[in-house]
Amino acid sequence: MGDVGQVQTAERSGTGVHVRAGRDAASAVRVELVECERRYGAVAALDRLSLTIEPGELVALLGPSGCGKTTALRALAGLEQIDSGAVRIRGVDVTALPPHRRELGMVFQAYSLFPNMTALDNVGFGLRLRKADARTRRARAGDLLDLVGLAAQSARFPHELSGGQQQRVALARALAVEPRVLLLDEPLSALDAKVRAQLRDEIRRIQLELGITTLFVTHDQEEALSMADRVGVMAAGRLQQIGVPSEVYERPVNAFVAEFVGSVSRVPATVGRDGSVQVLGRRVPLPPAQSAFAPGTTVDVLLRPEAFAVRADPYGLGVVTRRSFLGPVLHVAVAVPGQVEVVATLPASAGADIGVGTAVSVEPTGAPLFATEPRASVA
Ligand SMILES: Nc1ncnc2c1ncn2[C@@H]1O[C@H](COP(=O)(O)OP(=O)(O)OP(=O)(O)O)[C@@H](O)[C@H]1O
Ligand SMILES: [Mg+2]
Repeated sequence: MGDVGQVQTAERSGTGVHVRAGRDAASAVRVELVECERRYGAVAALDRLSLTIEPGELVALLGPSGCGKTTALRALAGLEQIDSGAVRIRGVDVTALPPHRRELGMVFQAYSLFPNMTALDNVGFGLRLRKADARTRRARAGDLLDLVGLAAQSARFPHELSGGQQQRVALARALAVEPRVLLLDEPLSALDAKVRAQLRDEIRRIQLELGITTLFVTHDQEEALSMADRVGVMAAGRLQQIGVPSEVYERPVNAFVAEFVGSVSRVPATVGRDGSVQVLGRRVPLPPAQSAFAPGTTVDVLLRPEAFAVRADPYGLGVVTRRSFLGPVLHVAVAVPGQVEVVATLPASAGADIGVGTAVSVEPTGAPLFATEPRASVA
């Protein structure tokens, strides 16, 4: 059902009369934060943050609460002064320009519609500020509501719309003024999982259709990985890594990125002589960039759930402690000696004989994601 609705929406807007499709990749702009610093007392909300978003690109900024995502977005929008550094749009330094001169569209985390205006008037609001006449305003606002699949709800007030519909109106309102850049601050966080996934696809479709340079802030790694051209991972005001989703997931530059993007198990291991490492009784290569650990060193290695082989084995040293069935796959938690627990993903078909309490053998199937100093043990 959801798919059908989406195709229809795409076809409607694809007729070309609704939305000026002229704002394609050729007219898209590059956006840059250059060494931006913003301090609140002792806290560095932005710690010399540099980030470039290429024309027409969607970058997702991912990071834990308080790491500076909203501050970065607000600095870009001009809603937040930076202490030092620069903001550039299309190569032009806009650091000193007020928000309305930067030509950005913004959608916030909390619903921010005007409660006393209909959906249509909410969307047309920005155009009124730009002194567009009433007919142009209504036509353009109508086109945008159509684009987000809400043509039939244009006369409704915000309280007559669901959360997902309200966020669609907010998106249409942000797009109405044909911004050069779209900034989205956790626009889906208040929505339930299904609406969230639907709207995520919708935002991506519209963003690609309009070729609009977009910064999308989220703390949801699945959202970031599934929508973005590139994902930037932030911690404590700094960009830890930026890359295409598979790169950030498969080749994290540090333990923080590995643990924040996707789930990992942390397992003690011993470095061997030949660039290998002994993990759960099996010798596997160290990650390529990490051959600096001296032989004999004890490290923690990080492994994704799909990087383990788990088999029922009466002589195995592991015991299954939890098991969850997720349709095509099965997640199992396995306690292994040394008070370590690993979480592994198996094809559901392979896990029929693996229940809670089953003795299993568990070993890594390849090089770990990352090796790091052992975490200080809690004595
Ligand atoms: N106006 C302010 N005054 C003082 N400290 C602030 C202010 N705004 C933000 N901060 C601090 O700056 C840091 C970054 O805040 P920011 O809102 O950018 O985080 P965030 O990554 O968006 O977090 P969340 O995921 O919770 O929205 C936090 O430590 C926050 O407490
Ligand atoms: Mg925030």
